[in-house]
Amino acid sequence: MTHEKFPTDTPAVVTCGLPYANGELHIGHLRTYVGGDIFSRALKRMGQQTAFVSGSDMHGTPVAVNAAEEGVSPEKFALRHHEQYKSTFPQFDIEFDNYGHTDDETNTTITQSIVTGLINEGYVYEKEIPVAYDPNADQWLPDRFVEGTCPYCGEHARGDECDEGCGRHLEPGEIETPVSTITDNKAEYRSRPHQFFAVSELQSYLSGFLDRLEGTANAQNQPREWVEGELQDWCITRDMDWGIDYPEDSDLVLYVWVDAPIEYVSSTMQYTDTVGSDTFDWEAAWRPDEDGDGGEIIHIIGRDIIQHHTVFWPAMLRAVGYTEPRAVMASGFITLEGKGFSTSRNRAVWADEYLDEGFDPDMLRYYLATNGGFQQDVDFSWAKFRERVNSELVNTVGNFAYRSLLFAAREYNGTPEASLSETVDTEIQSAVDRLREGVNAYSVRDIGTAAIRLAQFGNEYIQKHEPWKLDDENGQKAQVIRDCVQISKAIAVLLEPVAPSAASRLWDDINATGSVHTVQLEAAFDPPADQFEQPTELFEPIEAERVDELTAKLADRTTTESSTDSDSTSESTPTEESDSPAVESLLENRVDFDTFQSLDIRVGEIQQATPIEGADKLVKLQVDIGVETRQIVAGIRQLHEIDELPGTRIVVVANLEKTELFGVESDGMVLAAGEDADLLTTHGSALPGTKIK
Ligand code: 2FM
Ligand code: ZN
Repeated sequence: MTHEKFPTDTPAVVTCGLPYANGELHIGHLRTYVGGDIFSRALKRMGQQTAFVSGSDMHGTPVAVNAAEEGVSPEKFALRHHEQYKSTFPQFDIEFDNYGHTDDETNTTITQSIVTGLINEGYVYEKEIPVAYDPNADQWLPDRFVEGTCPYCGEHARGDECDEGCGRHLEPGEIETPVSTITDNKAEYRSRPHQFFAVSELQSYLSGFLDRLEGTANAQNQPREWVEGELQDWCITRDMDWGIDYPEDSDLVLYVWVDAPIEYVSSTMQYTDTVGSDTFDWEAAWRPDEDGDGGEIIHIIGRDIIQHHTVFWPAMLRAVGYTEPRAVMASGFITLEGKGFSTSRNRAVWADEYLDEGFDPDMLRYYLATNGGFQQDVDFSWAKFRERVNSELVNTVGNFAYRSLLFAAREYNGTPEASLSETVDTEIQSAVDRLREGVNAYSVRDIGTAAIRLAQFGNEYIQKHEPWKLDDENGQKAQVIRDCVQISKAIAVLLEPVAPSAASRLWDDINATGSVHTVQLEAAFDPPADQFEQPTELFEPIEAERVDELTAKLADRTTTESSTDSDSTSESTPTEESDSPAVESLLENRVDFDTFQSLDIRVGEIQQATPIEGADKLVKLQVDIGVETRQIVAGIRQLHEIDELPGTRIVVVANLEKTELFGVESDGMVLAAGEDADLLTTHGSALPGTKIK
């Protein structure tokens, strides 16, 4: 089944994974929230009725362990962090329609009613299982209160998650050589009855669900092996005080992963309570009608929690008759100067710190959204940040808008009288279409770059027509400036999802009516105001000295690596340092420039990647090289996961003779470094098809 394209007539709910209310936010944490905010703003600009919701994840051992370390109650501890998150998100223009938390009354009530529904539908059964126990502390050891060895990959792991190895969810009793994190003593297993959700009964449903699921390729493909392998039932209770009581036994609380996603529903319900069901009806979204039609549920998460959102959660929704997710968009991890963020070593750029340094939130939003496809890993460094901001936001968008509007204000006190030229009208239309297609392809990057690509066109247009050299007798100058003002207006509309504050400033600069935060994409074509004043600069460039200063500050405060550092936060994967390989000696023979020029080397973007049967390293790619899409076979699987390739910008030799590898035609060559075939990429906004010289 294919879903209808956005915008649809049914309401959409865009959710972001709930942050555990257990620590400070750093810029790495913001990636999925920025992505969610951009996606939901873009949907709204397209006219899709949308609720953007999330909340803090208050329960479970991630909160209980940290609260115990601080010596405060989990409730007090979690509420403090919840309040902090709630005030931080809007400072980055991450504007949830509702931001609740899992310990509030709405979520407690709905969770208990959904779990009662599961019980009544016959999906819950009791089973005696071994549970880790600390005899010294005389305490059960759920989830993060126990550590040990992953039974699947042998790596060190937490009680409920192989966080350092294969990433699997671990059921109670599965972890080997258990050690208590309370006393550091060896734990023992004791038998105890717990409640299980019979996920295995929904195996064939889940398989069909994955066929329908949209979103990023990693979320569509990774769960296949779990769903189509031996699907385990899921223990939904824990021996703890902190959490939502299991409805039929108040000695047990529900596993945090039961009540956390239910907050998506609760938060939508609270939104309806605030705005009224005429504005947004949570039931129309979450409860399918008699024809089985519900709303468009889109989950935006980090890639470490794909299993929960594509297996356990849809199984729960199905069992109680709620709407299944339409799409799951799972972001890659984020690294800092090539290595993992480490909150315990203060190796992070903190959200508050970023703002205190006086940086514009739009700049970080833009960087996080466009520095690679959503499912790819992103690296942050102050130097790379400066490079992208200065070249794309300052020099491309800011420069175009400023020089066009300054010219218009000085020469015409606003928009000159002329009608929009056909070329520019068509170009704006393609930019608007690009944003629409970006939404339908779940590409945060395409949404984020739509305005920038239009500004690139604008700069070329103004440069080509040189209005400052034209005289106005035949109206040519007025025509060019009229076009440029319209392009600026369209840029404001298209920029709104990714850089809402700058979009609003630009909107005000051209004296446009209403708010750019509520207009539809069609506003890009509305005639601009006759009069406006001289504009202000949209973005301030980042000076090189600031980069040096901030890079040094980060290095200075990062404490030395400690082997006990257990901060394997989900937002990062440290890059392992490896021994340097022997470097091949240089070739003696030189080639002349013409020989080099005879190679047609271009920027390409991988559209599709599929394995080639029987060839371990080879992958068949469909690559957009601007002028056309090429099929290229490349030996790049050593370092690159197939799922993560779509969306990657690469470098392609386009005029190499065609060849055949493993029976598959290859029309071009992808450039990559070394034995691992580390793909070459671009770092600015060079579009597919751009020549490399
Ligand atoms: O992994 C985490 O950080 C969880 N707090 C995410 C929960 S998302 C959802 F399902 F609620
Ligand atoms: Zn493992």
